[in-house]
Formats: sequence, C-alpha cells, structure tokens
Amino acid sequence: MVNGPQDPHIGILLNGKGGMPSWKATLSDTEIAAVITYTRNAWGNKPEDNLVQPAEVLAARK
Ligand code: HEM
Repeated sequence: MVNGPQDPHIGILLNGKGGMPSWKATLSDTEIAAVITYTRNAWGNKPEDNLVQPAEVLAARK
C-alpha cells in the first residue's frame, strides 16, 4: 500500500533510494507529479493527499 505522506514520496523519486536511481535529471516536474499521482491512486491506494502538482515537485527540487 502507498498511504504515507507525499513529501517523502516526491523526495524518493527525485533523489533515489537504496537501489533505485534518482529521476531528477530524467523526468520533468510534470512527469514526476503524474507518476506519483498515478501510483497514489492505483491498485486501491487512497492516501489523503493523493494529487501531486508539478509546482510541488519544483519546490521539492530546491
Ligand atoms: C518512474 C518509475 C519508478 C517509480 C515511480 C518508482 C518508485 C519507487 C518508490 C516510491 C520507492 C520507495 C518505496 C519505499 O521506500 O516505500 C522505490 C524504491 C525502489 N525502486 Fe523504484 N521507482 C521507479 C523505477 C525504478 C527503477 C527503473 C528501478 C531499477 C532500476 C527501481 C528500483 C527501486 C529499488 C531497488 C527500490 C528500493 C530502494 C530501497 O529501499 O533500498 N525503481 N521506487
């Protein structure tokens, strides 16, 4: 299940984690926002904050 807060979720995608590469240089803000929003709504996942905007990804890059 993906039910945790979205800020760490954005950070993991941007910066990578353990064996996962960073997506910062590969994906745009819009793509990262889209893939996180998708994951947070698919497969029965339904966290409270389930919409990630590109502006939030941009803010997390700084
Ligand atoms: C855009 C596509 C991808 C998304 C959205 C994504 C998302 C995530 C997220 C959210 C986590 C953290 C899970 C957690 O700690 O709760 C994670 C972990 C991981 N991802 Fe990805 N991932 C993607 C692509 C990939 C690819 C292509 C690889 C392999 C080359 C990969 C390998 C891993 C590994 C090995 C972990 C575990 C890291 C650890 O905890 O040590 N991911 N991924």
